[in-house]
Amino acid sequence: MQSLIPVDLPQNSYEIAIASGALAQIGDRLKALNLGKKVMVVSNAVIFQHYGQIVLDSLAAAGFEACSHILPAGERHKTIHSIQKLYDTALENHLERSSTFIALGGGVIGDMTGFAAATWLRGVNVVQVPTSLLAMVDAAIGGKTGVNHPRGKNLIGAFYQPKLVLIDPQVLKTLPVREFRAGMAEVIKYGIVWDRELFEQLEAAPRLDHLHDLDAKLLHEILMRSCQAKAEVVGKDEKEAGLRAILNYGHTVGHAVESLTGYRLVNHGEAVGIGMVSAGQIAAAMQLWSAPEADRQNALIAKVGLPIHIPPMVSVEAIIEALQADKKVQAGKVRFILPQAIGQVIISDRVTADTLNTVLSEQFQPEPCT
Ligand code: GLY
Repeated sequence: MQSLIPVDLPQNSYEIAIASGALAQIGDRLKALNLGKKVMVVSNAVIFQHYGQIVLDSLAAAGFEACSHILPAGERHKTIHSIQKLYDTALENHLERSSTFIALGGGVIGDMTGFAAATWLRGVNVVQVPTSLLAMVDAAIGGKTGVNHPRGKNLIGAFYQPKLVLIDPQVLKTLPVREFRAGMAEVIKYGIVWDRELFEQLEAAPRLDHLHDLDAKLLHEILMRSCQAKAEVVGKDEKEAGLRAILNYGHTVGHAVESLTGYRLVNHGEAVGIGMVSAGQIAAAMQLWSAPEADRQNALIAKVGLPIHIPPMVSVEAIIEALQADKKVQAGKVRFILPQAIGQVIISDRVTADTLNTVLSEQFQPEPCT
């Protein structure tokens, strides 16, 4: 099974290739793009141990001269300091303007490698080889790159499109189950904001909470439809002037929960799941969305094994305060992405403080009856 999904942009269009075993073909795929001979594989120690050699062997067989740079794992290392070290490796290995950085890893690796590629020598090629479900369906596509500032996530960055996104579903076998579920949050997001049929396919699957519950065909379909949704949205609004903001569905409350729990207790995908429940309940309270459809969304989030309640150590007041500091505030108003139907959302800054308070207060785990 192989799918090629075009990301059509005014400039710098590219393809997303989804194929089982694609990692071992990376050399030939880069050769077909006529990229320069020198490449640098950027990864973290765990991913590189699993997949680094396959990639290096394939590159060598296709005649590339490859070096590698290992970044420390985790969001807290997504800093300018880490990028500085990456530049050092690029310098030591004489990477040139025609050279290519290959991001082999999850979202953090992809964002950092993309940002380094955007800035090294004023721009070298980047190829994204995502190894987490979340990066495959979201972070690796669309050219958002960047690092964190001590006072906020992704505050330093650039839009910089890759030459290719290469997805090998086989690598998901080594993905921890919690990370798999986090990626499924973004898949459900596409079902709500863009692709009703994807949502219904997910609903129809008997189980979805472990990778081994999905047969190869369903996994391919999930990857393909999610990538297609992202490619279509990015193709219509590359720099997030309007439409692309719908991809932030669930991220408004989600980011607040993620930051208030220190980016560790609740991971990004879990926070997005919680945020989608909040947004759905807000839309239902405002009578924009039918309550039964909101319930279907919440049931699907629970079905993939994601939390739907706000963790007890986070208060409604703290979430509301965090929302004010978020990038999604425009002219002092918090912007929400709200569903009107499964597969269709609107962007709204009309959510009142009362509605927000009521919905968030109701989203805590009910006390057990005594
Ligand atoms: N992850 C949202 C976007 O790429 O726009």
